[in-house]
Amino acid sequence: MADVSLDEFLAEIEGLRAEASAALDAATDEVAMEAARIEFLGARSGRLKAIQKMLGSLAAADKPAAGKHFNDAKAAITALLAAVQERLAGGTATTIESIDVTLPGEPVRFGHLHPITQTIRRVQEIMARLGFESVTGPEVEDQWHNFEALAIGTEHPARDPLDNFYLAVARGADPLLLRSQTSTVQIRVMEKRKPPLRIVSLGRVYRPDTADATHYPMFHQVEGLLVEQGTTMAHLKSVLRFFASSFLGGDVKVRFRPSFFPFTEPSVEVDMEWGGRWIEMGGAGMVDPAVLEAVGYDPDAVTGFAFGLGVERIAARKYGVADIRDFYRNDVRFLQQF
Ligand code: PHE
Repeated sequence: MADVSLDEFLAEIEGLRAEASAALDAATDEVAMEAARIEFLGARSGRLKAIQKMLGSLAAADKPAAGKHFNDAKAAITALLAAVQERLAGGTATTIESIDVTLPGEPVRFGHLHPITQTIRRVQEIMARLGFESVTGPEVEDQWHNFEALAIGTEHPARDPLDNFYLAVARGADPLLLRSQTSTVQIRVMEKRKPPLRIVSLGRVYRPDTADATHYPMFHQVEGLLVEQGTTMAHLKSVLRFFASSFLGGDVKVRFRPSFFPFTEPSVEVDMEWGGRWIEMGGAGMVDPAVLEAVGYDPDAVTGFAFGLGVERIAARKYGVADIRDFYRNDVRFLQQF
């Protein structure tokens, strides 16, 4: 005959389980937790151990079921102890243990400057070798600097609202606009300084053009201006040729075609030949005496030349980019080639 019935055994084990659970839940420090551990799970005189001994007094047929309950209860109390341990450690114990410091690290991804920014820096560097100081001007301009002082009169088609981004903000009677050319900076510098001067200005300009492979409503120009005694078109051509050869590498031919700009006289379109193809890069000319007068220079004492080239054009030429819109798509697969 068995000394202990299965029911008695189960009641005993459930009671112990509830007590252990209450004691561990109530444990607020390591000492209380350790006391509970010894009381219930202690290897020698723990209460679970005592119940385990009862197993031997059960009828043989009841032993498998009783053993299963015993094991379940032991596992539950052990798990609860682990949970309390983690709670008391601030929940960090397992996280720290899970870091494997021998794993290879995340590779660092290096970026670089945008190809247009690289081009701008390179142009500044080359022009600095010829003594051209790099300057900047505002992108929001008034009509004086964008048109008037550059001899672009009120009737000139370049002032058409359809060809400019006029703003709803005015200075005096005239609305301000996003500059349509960097020639504005020529005026701003000449107003402040006396000749001789050599400046180069690179920055954004805005025109409401429909975007295609060679146009974009925002693009960059490089503006050069030199005002000194005895400056001629020959100096202009030499500077452009030196610039083009340094930037593109090799012997670049420069061609002037007669043209017209209100602020230069004579005026030319500048073409460059590199790798067997002629490309129009921008405009240039001798600074018009009217412009020199507008900024208070004496056209009889000094002459100057100015040029304006498209930065996207020269960058596209150098890198073999067929569509300037690619510069602004922000596609890393395109950009990381530079
Ligand atoms: N500003 C002119 C343009 O945007 C280019 C230019 C600059 C022409 C300087 C002559 C001198 O088209």
